[in-house]
Amino acid sequence: MQLSALACLLSLYALPLLCEATTVPQKNSKVPPGFVTTKGKEFELDGKPFAFVGANSYWLPLLTSQSDVDATLESMKQAGVKVLRTWGFNAINETELQGALETNLTYYQACTPISSFQWLLNDGPQGLQRLDNVIASASKHDIKVIVAFTNNWYGSDLYVNWIAGAGQPHDVFFTDSRIIASYQSYVKTIVERYKNSSAIFAWELMNEARCVSDTLPAGPACVPGSNTLKTWYEEQSNFVRSLDANHLITTGGEGQFFWEHPLQYWFNHTLVSDYNYNGQAGEDFDHDTLLSNIDFGSYHMYPQSWYPELDHPGSNFTIESWGLEWIDQHIHAANKANKPLILEEFGVSGLQNKTTIYPSWVQRALDTKHATIVHRSIMPWQWGQLGLTEDGGNRPIKYSDAIVDGASPNDGNTFYPNQTQVWDIFTRAAKIQNARSG
Ligand SMILES: *[C@@H]1O[C@H](CO)[C@@H](O)[C@H](O)[C@H]1NC(C)=O
Ligand SMILES: *[C@@H]1O[C@H](CO)[C@@H](O)[C@H](O)[C@H]1NC(C)=O
Ligand SMILES: *[C@@H]1O[C@H](CO)[C@@H](O)[C@H](O)[C@H]1NC(C)=O
Ligand SMILES: *[C@@H]1O[C@H](CO)[C@@H](O)[C@H](O)[C@H]1NC(C)=O
Ligand SMILES: *[C@@H]1O[C@H](CO)[C@@H](O)[C@H](O)[C@H]1NC(C)=O
Ligand SMILES: *[C@@H]1O[C@H](CO)[C@@H](O)[C@H](O)[C@H]1NC(C)=O
Ligand SMILES: *[C@@H]1O[C@H](CO)[C@@H](O)[C@H](O)[C@H]1NC(C)=O
Repeated sequence: MQLSALACLLSLYALPLLCEATTVPQKNSKVPPGFVTTKGKEFELDGKPFAFVGANSYWLPLLTSQSDVDATLESMKQAGVKVLRTWGFNAINETELQGALETNLTYYQACTPISSFQWLLNDGPQGLQRLDNVIASASKHDIKVIVAFTNNWYGSDLYVNWIAGAGQPHDVFFTDSRIIASYQSYVKTIVERYKNSSAIFAWELMNEARCVSDTLPAGPACVPGSNTLKTWYEEQSNFVRSLDANHLITTGGEGQFFWEHPLQYWFNHTLVSDYNYNGQAGEDFDHDTLLSNIDFGSYHMYPQSWYPELDHPGSNFTIESWGLEWIDQHIHAANKANKPLILEEFGVSGLQNKTTIYPSWVQRALDTKHATIVHRSIMPWQWGQLGLTEDGGNRPIKYSDAIVDGASPNDGNTFYPNQTQVWDIFTRAAKIQNARSG
């Protein structure tokens, strides 16, 4: 039982004030026109089912040319895309700020304190106005946007190092009250900026929250059973809901499970416990999805990079079959929670791998035969755009990401419209999804 529910129960007799103070904020049951909502396992838009193929593009707000942004959204629209997922964060440190000013790099927050641990907020033309422009263009192209507030990778550790100090584990991000206050202050800025916009599909608490990050280890407080992430998801989703009762909220997590009997597989003749099922990563998809202000389940899927050993002789799972199992388990869990589900990131590298593996994954994820017609949605990682013009079509964007000969950043998972076999898998799926909607 949730603490707040217990408090309310007691309050019937003795504690009316405590009850009031701990009441969990609720989503409005009637939302303004054009806002997406849920009905059981389905998304709905203006009272009609809404199922889709979406696009991931974190780099759109990093572009400096509005005509490139518009051209990308136009291509997405032509491909039948209805939902875009992008980053609503771009935090940099004090050293990076100098470079950003020289290179016109988009940034929304810099660790240059105004007062104790308060970020320098950039809502100008090199800052949040670029996110405004992406959201406005999406709206013009009839595309809704999922916005994530921070990142487990290259993002949250800025808060950890700056506010908690060097030597702290990554997971203090989820527990240090000063970090939580700082995160919430940024979240409030973003939510209030777009609170009235029907172009927002949903808010996402964090991209791929885990106990560990790429730069910092997990501490002893983030272990299977500690509920560190679930507690954080609960607190933050309630906080976002208190600011905005109309938009959907989700975790943005990879969707790892914490099972009593986790899946195991054979690798090189050894039985291995699967970290995506044993709670080690930090999430508990079954219970995280049940939280009252988590409106739908989100999960990601990268077995090729998660398990380089899977297709190895002596292992009894392939990348493709591991993915099918992962899809089935999430559909099962979302059905139990009676909430919609988005496979909101997935990918493999290599053109051949994509053309052989994607058809079965997409088929399974969008299959309606298991339940009494439930429509699920997918968002492949990641959208490839050709013909970008800014800086003559060549520009380093951020870290190792670059526009090369007019092509958007290629991380190996990117698929471009000239790769017609892969492209067709998704545009065909989009047609089917769009026919199921409205
Ligand atoms: C920086 O980007 C803005 C668009 O956001 C553009 O108008 C401006 O010309 C760019 N400045 C430089 C120095 O490239
Ligand atoms: C700022 O970030 C850069 C690159 O991401 C890193 O090399 C540098 O050490 C950081 N500086 C501080 C003061 O944290
Ligand atoms: C949002 O809508 C409310 C109610 O119509 C209005 O009071 C408020 O000013 C609007 N806020 C913004 C930022 O447009
Ligand atoms: C692989 O082996 C494990 C352990 O015996 C078993 O639980 C799992 O179902 C097997 N997977 C496949 C795809 O056969
Ligand atoms: C598989 O196990 C054998 C025997 O223990 C070992 O020599 C070999 O290095 C292992 N291969 C891999 C890829 O781990
Ligand atoms: C295709 O997948 C296999 C198995 O993971 C991998 O070894 C190979 O490098 C991939 N091909 C490309 C071009 O990435
Ligand atoms: C498609 O465009 C990408 C990005 O410019 C390029 O790397 C690739 O060679 C092109 N052709 C095919 C068939 O992938």
